[in-house]
This record gives sequence, structure tokens and C-alpha cells, in this order.
Amino acid sequence: MKAYSVKELLEGDKILQEVIVKGWVRTFRSNRFIALNDGSTIKNIQCVVDFENLDEEDLKKISTGAAIELKGTLVESMGRGQTVEVQVNELEILGASDPETYPIQPKKHSMEFLRENAHLRVRTNTFSAVMRVRNALSFAIHQYFQQNGFNYVHTPIITGSDAEGAGEMFRVSTLDAKNPPLSEDGQVDYKEDFFGKETNLTVSGQLEAEAYAMALGKVYTFGPTFRAENSNTSRHLAEFWMVEPEVAFMDLDGNMDLAEDFIKFVLQYVLDNCQDDLEFLEQRLLDEEKSKPQKERSEMKLTEKIRFVLENNFKRVSYTEAIDILKNSKPNKKKKFQYLIEEWGADLQSEHERFLVEKHFKCPVILFDYPAKIKAFYMRLNEDEKTVRAMDILFPGIGEIVGGSQREERLDVLKQKVADLGIDEKELWWYLDLRKYGSAVHSGFGLGFERLVLFTTGMTNIRDVIPFPRTPQSAEF
Ligand code: 4AD
Ligand code: MG
Repeated sequence: MKAYSVKELLEGDKILQEVIVKGWVRTFRSNRFIALNDGSTIKNIQCVVDFENLDEEDLKKISTGAAIELKGTLVESMGRGQTVEVQVNELEILGASDPETYPIQPKKHSMEFLRENAHLRVRTNTFSAVMRVRNALSFAIHQYFQQNGFNYVHTPIITGSDAEGAGEMFRVSTLDAKNPPLSEDGQVDYKEDFFGKETNLTVSGQLEAEAYAMALGKVYTFGPTFRAENSNTSRHLAEFWMVEPEVAFMDLDGNMDLAEDFIKFVLQYVLDNCQDDLEFLEQRLLDEEKSKPQKERSEMKLTEKIRFVLENNFKRVSYTEAIDILKNSKPNKKKKFQYLIEEWGADLQSEHERFLVEKHFKCPVILFDYPAKIKAFYMRLNEDEKTVRAMDILFPGIGEIVGGSQREERLDVLKQKVADLGIDEKELWWYLDLRKYGSAVHSGFGLGFERLVLFTTGMTNIRDVIPFPRTPQSAEF
């Protein structure tokens, strides 16, 4: 007798075979019908037990959350919504689950409650669907780059450089916090930090990816990155995953083409491979929308939104054009923007970004050529000497999903920029070397993986698309 996953039993042709299946009880009705789930699919398999033949102790232990092993025959089902079911001959309780205390009872739970139970929430339909889609997206990301000649580079997590120059880093230290070494003036001697150097958790693998692009040509990183920003929004995490391709001899236009092609590929992959989960998430969203007032309801269903992105070109707009549009618009008849953009040069707030994407263009937007002052030091200066070859991709319902640029490849210009910002050249000696020896035009971008998962699953809070979210409130698990 062979063990099968629930997915194999539901999709394969195993009718009238003797099978073994293991999983967790979702519900147990009428002392007879077990809905069993093993995570292989969103669907449960119905398993029918003959309670008269069951040990009474075992019968009591068939409760939501219990792990069980069943042996039986797969038969056609008369029940609604299922084609097959298991007629159980033998049942073994592998791990009971006390119905008095098990938190994930089959009823509607609030998202807050489920976040507090991050170790168990993946046993719900919503979270298991999200995590399977997350998995599919990860696979598709690697597939896209591998098929297109990119090398996967593992950039360091602990680093001495601040890639974004934004100072939002978690310090990594081997110092004994309670008893730190002191220098002569009685201050904590950070020179004694990690191997005598100040180190942080990386905010981005970009700088190291650039070094590798300047030898391997096309590379990408896909790993965890860290931002010590104390922002409690539904779009920010302290630990998130970023996908960062970097390509030698590619300019900003090529970078935009790459980003758009890449995003469309991974979305198509999910449409093709996650139908059941997307169907569930779409229905979940529809149910949620019903509780909203009519005018706040989304006009499109989840899969329609994904298809819309796939079928339309991303709108490419310069920062300067975007500012003009914003200056001449009001978000609605009466209200003005809360933060008015008076001056060319100001950074866009998320309300501006959302207006551009959701109200004005009504499609994903690539904003490019930002003012140099509001962007990172490594971006290539344009001929106007005011703007840099930066690009951000803005998505409906999400805001910024990608940030990237063509990199400054000219040693003298980069050195000047570093000096203007008061950064010590010595800290970036190796990065400057890349401009000394065989420098060339190159570009790349970073895609916030959780923001992509948010868009694809229709979830509304970034804490619900990563298994164990790290936020100022939560680092418990
Ligand atoms: O725009 P960012 O800061 O760009 C960089 O880090 C570049 N070095 C990337 C590169 O060119 N290789 O971050 C890139 C993306 C953002 O567009 C956003 O999607 C995501 O990373 N992101 C976050 N996601 C979740 N939580 C946070 N705190 C995030 N900060 C940025
Ligand atoms: Mg950014």
C-alpha cells in the first residue's frame, strides 16, 4: 500500500486503490466525515470513517488540528463539491490536538489574532494559499533569471557598507553589551566591534552584485535584507526579501525593459500554476469587499488585476512630467493632496504615487529621472546635472514595488558625489575600484518580494505574506 498526498489523491486516477494518507484534521462532522488537509493543496479530502468499528478513545481524538494517518480505499464520492473520498479502514492518531485549547478552530479569526499565532496560522486556508503562491513566485524568479543567462550570487548579510546611504541599518556587534570595551575617554569603543570594524545587516545586495556583474555580466541576488526603520505601515518590514538583478553594458531603458518582462513572467507563472489558490484568494477578497461601501469596492477581481498588468505596457513617465500632472490635479473634487508638491525636487509621498497609478494612469507606472538630491549616491547623473537615471515602478494598490537605476560608472563623477555627501572614500575603496578597472555602463534594480506577493495574493498587510514578520512589534518567533 502506498502513501499519497491529498493533491495526488484528488488529481490522480487512483480510484478503487488501497491508499495511505497523512494530514491534519480540519473538521470532523457527524462522527463520520473527516476533512483532511496536508498542505499539498488548498483542497481537503473527505475521509469517511465507520465510527462503530473505531476505538472509542481514538474517536474522541479526531478533532481539528490533530495529525492522523489513514488507510483506506479511494472511492467515487456522492458528496457535493468532491469527486473522490477515502473510505477509511484503519486510523491512527499521530498527534492529538486538544479542542479546548487549540487556537485555530474552524471559524473566522481576526488577522491580529492570527499574527499572534504566526506558528499556527499557516494551517488556515488563507495563509497556506498565500505561502504556496509565495513559493511559486520564488521558483519563477529563479526560473526567469536562470533561463536568461543570469548567475545567482549570494551577497553577504553582514557588511561594512551602507548601500542606500540612508542610515537605516541594524548594527552587528560582537561586543558584550553589558560590559563593552571602553576607550581612554570612557566611551564605548566601537572599533572593537565585529573584527575591529563597524558592521551592519545589509540593506541591499546591490553594491556587491555590481562587483559580480562587472565580471559575470548578468547576475541576480535574492535574499533577506534589513531596514531599521521604525515604520508601522502595511508596506514595510524590518526584514524583507529583495530580488536584485544587475547587468553590465545595460542602460536605464534596458533596465526598464528587464523589470517589466521579469514581473510579467513571474505573474504569468502564478496564473498558470496556482489556479486553486488564486481562486480561493479571489473569493476571499470578494467576500471581504462585500463588507465595504459600494464605491470603495475594487472594480476588478484579483485575477483580472493580474491579467491587466500582464496585458498592458507599463506607463513610462519622467519625474518632471509626474510633478506637472500632480500639480494640476486634485485627488477628488474637493480634497487637495495632504502633502502638496510645491517645488520640483520634493520626494513623492505614497498618496501621490497612488494617485498617479490608480486614478491618473490606471496601470503600473515607471517613474524615471528623479532629482539627484532625493536618490542614492550611486545613481548615474544625467546631462542636466540635476537628475539621475533612477526608476521606480509603482503598482496599483501597492505603491513602489521596484527601485532601481543606471549606476554611475565614471570614477571622477562618483568620487565627487561621495565627497559631496561627506562619505569617507576609504569606506568605498573596493566599489570605486570597479570604476578604475574596466568600468562600463551597468544597471539594476531591487524588487521588494513581499510587495510582489501582496499584489499577487490580494492581501492587504505585508505582515501576512511573510511567514514570520519582523516589525517593531514582532520578532518573537
Ligand atoms: O528602493 P530600495 O530601497 O532600493 C534599493 O535598495 C536598491 N539598492 C535596489 C537596487 O537597485 N538593487 O528598495 C527596493 C525595493 C522597494 O522598491 C520596495 O519594493 C522594497 O525593496 N522595500 C521594502 N519592502 C518591505 N519593507 C521595507 N522596509 C522595504 N524597503 C524597501
Ligand atoms: Mg526606493
